[in-house]
Amino acid sequence: MNEPRNPSKSSAQSQARNQADTPANSPEGRTRGAISDESRHRMLRLVTKSFCREIVDYGVDVRDLLKVSGHVLEFASVQTERPPTAAIEAFRRFALNEVATDGATYRMGPTSLRPLAEDDLAHVVRWVARDDVQNSTLVPYPTHEDELRQHMASPTCSYHVIAHDGRPAGLIGAEDIDGHSRRAEMRKFIGEPDMRGRGLGTEATFLWLHHAFGKLGLHKVYIHTHHGNARNLKLNRSLGFEVEGVLSEEHRMGGSFVDIVRMGLLEGSWQELMGGPGSTDSLR
Ligand SMILES: CC(C)(COP(=O)(O)OP(=O)(O)OC[C@H]1O[C@@H](n2cnc3c(N)ncnc32)[C@H](O)[C@@H]1OP(=O)(O)O)[C@@H](O)C(=O)NCCC(=O)NCCS
Repeated sequence: MNEPRNPSKSSAQSQARNQADTPANSPEGRTRGAISDESRHRMLRLVTKSFCREIVDYGVDVRDLLKVSGHVLEFASVQTERPPTAAIEAFRRFALNEVATDGATYRMGPTSLRPLAEDDLAHVVRWVARDDVQNSTLVPYPTHEDELRQHMASPTCSYHVIAHDGRPAGLIGAEDIDGHSRRAEMRKFIGEPDMRGRGLGTEATFLWLHHAFGKLGLHKVYIHTHHGNARNLKLNRSLGFEVEGVLSEEHRMGGSFVDIVRMGLLEGSWQELMGGPGSTDSLR
């Protein structure tokens, strides 16, 4: 039996089941359908591209890809019925009434966000020294404490520390905040490797989006991610982000050029996913 990864997910399961019954012609249902139709094709193409690269790396000859496709069809045809796509799945796990905020800090179960403070910089310096953190962004974070302090203090940045049971684990925030178009790039990482893959990144992003659309008043949040960062793609997709495009060989990583996926989430889509305009006013 699948156990929920943490108590906050489990306590939201009943709402989850209720939301799973949302009729397709309700505003919520329509938004989910539109998001699926719009970006599913592009996402499938991306997944296929990564899959092809993986199996070639695994040692399968490129000329055998056609045979592989045949086997994929063969295995797919004997699959028993599976649950529908995981897109927007996170909304079935989280309940708005579990989010507590004083307008600056956000909490949901053991997961919390608080504005980055001077005392946190030592953690951030340690986290950004990691290759996997630096490789996750197009523009690397400064690695020296003074430069980081200066960067984070910029009016075009806004960062929160992600904590689990009070233990600082990572960072999430906005870069390049554009006050005119009310858009910003979301950047995030779990800097403590033992805290990854436990749902913290998803919960922190869910909390931070309340801040982004509620407190920062953004109209659009976008991200750039390496096409092979399956965890990050899945996470953002589960919170309603749509693929807006693939920037071919945009970024040099190690010795090679890699594709970058741009995903975006609009204020209107977020509000609809949260239950319509005004549903999150109490969290401002
Ligand atoms: C990307 C990152 C923030 C995700 O946070 P996290 O706490 O590890 O992610 P979660 O545990 O919430 O998992 C997110 C999804 O990825 C899935 N996932 C977990 N491990 C995975 C793996 N190895 N491969 C593919 N998917 C995986 C999870 O199942 C989850 O999907 P689900 O909610 O449907 O179950 C974190 O791994 C990280 O900091 N990575 C390095 C920096 C980075 O890539 N930042 C993003 C730049 S924008």
